[in-house]
Amino acid sequence: MVNEWGKIRVSGRFRLLVIAGMGGSGIVGDYIARLSEIYNGLPVIVYKTHMVPEFINDRDLVIIVSYSGNTHESIAFLEKVKNKSRNIVIVSSNGLLEKYSLENNYVFLKIPSGMVPRISLPSMLVSILGLLDSSGYTIVSRDTVIDAIDFLKHGINDLEKKAGDLACFINEWKRLVILASHYPYDVLMIRGKNEFNENSKIPVKVEIAPEWMHNDIVGWEKPYSNMYSVILVFDPDDRVGKTLVEYMDRVYERKDIPRYRVVLKGRNYFEKLMYGSLLFGLASVELARIRGIDPLETISIKEYKSIANSIFVS
Ligand code: PA5
Repeated sequence: MVNEWGKIRVSGRFRLLVIAGMGGSGIVGDYIARLSEIYNGLPVIVYKTHMVPEFINDRDLVIIVSYSGNTHESIAFLEKVKNKSRNIVIVSSNGLLEKYSLENNYVFLKIPSGMVPRISLPSMLVSILGLLDSSGYTIVSRDTVIDAIDFLKHGINDLEKKAGDLACFINEWKRLVILASHYPYDVLMIRGKNEFNENSKIPVKVEIAPEWMHNDIVGWEKPYSNMYSVILVFDPDDRVGKTLVEYMDRVYERKDIPRYRVVLKGRNYFEKLMYGSLLFGLASVELARIRGIDPLETISIKEYKSIANSIFVS
């Protein structure tokens, strides 16, 4: 993964980075956006849609991420955005997007094929971070990535146990799960939600402080039911974030909602993001195992994709 770091680069002075993609590929854009904020990179706007904003132009670098290379929305985005910016990068393992890249000379970052998109988050993320680094738009350096891999391999010894405990907590209560945290871990909560949706086949709701305190909190004044369980996630080094999550904890406590606390580990934001991602990944697969479900199969997405063309093409 890091061996290929930055081998492909782009040239140009860019105003912003636009990243488009859906689901397990779209989350890569969310991660890059938050990392870029934290580590002082280019402004990033993420689109999880077929619709292209008017303001995109040649001063923008557009990255389209689709693991399969065949996702309707991502292809439609490319079809429209290619008339607005010439700076196009495709990240994919296969499919029509690979074919279009070769035909049109788009910069192409090839991801190893034969997996499912969500498992390929590390390779998609690292390939984009490497491209940006060697193109003069460093967000996270190669050394930071290598340190994080080392930390995840050797710096923590109880991750599997923690993931197992989390899966057991969810399965014990069998309620709608709320994944709650504080900014800038909103993207980690979205990733967690997607992992539990797709691997464990359960719906999940996400709440992020401080926005949580400005709307959802009122819903707890008179909820129809308290059939929820909450996973409270915080960064122990972020005093404000941790205090906000503790505030949320007390609101849920008053409603007798069962709660599970996750303390993020790592020496910096990138490591904490990777730690949380791995924890949710393992927990969601463990929950699937407990429930006797195949974590890899996503029948409903397949069904949707088989008719998506008929919805979008008029
Ligand atoms: O994880 C999944 O399988 C989905 O969320 C897909 O990522 C999503 O449907 C988009 O497909 P692709 O990543 O191939 O563009």
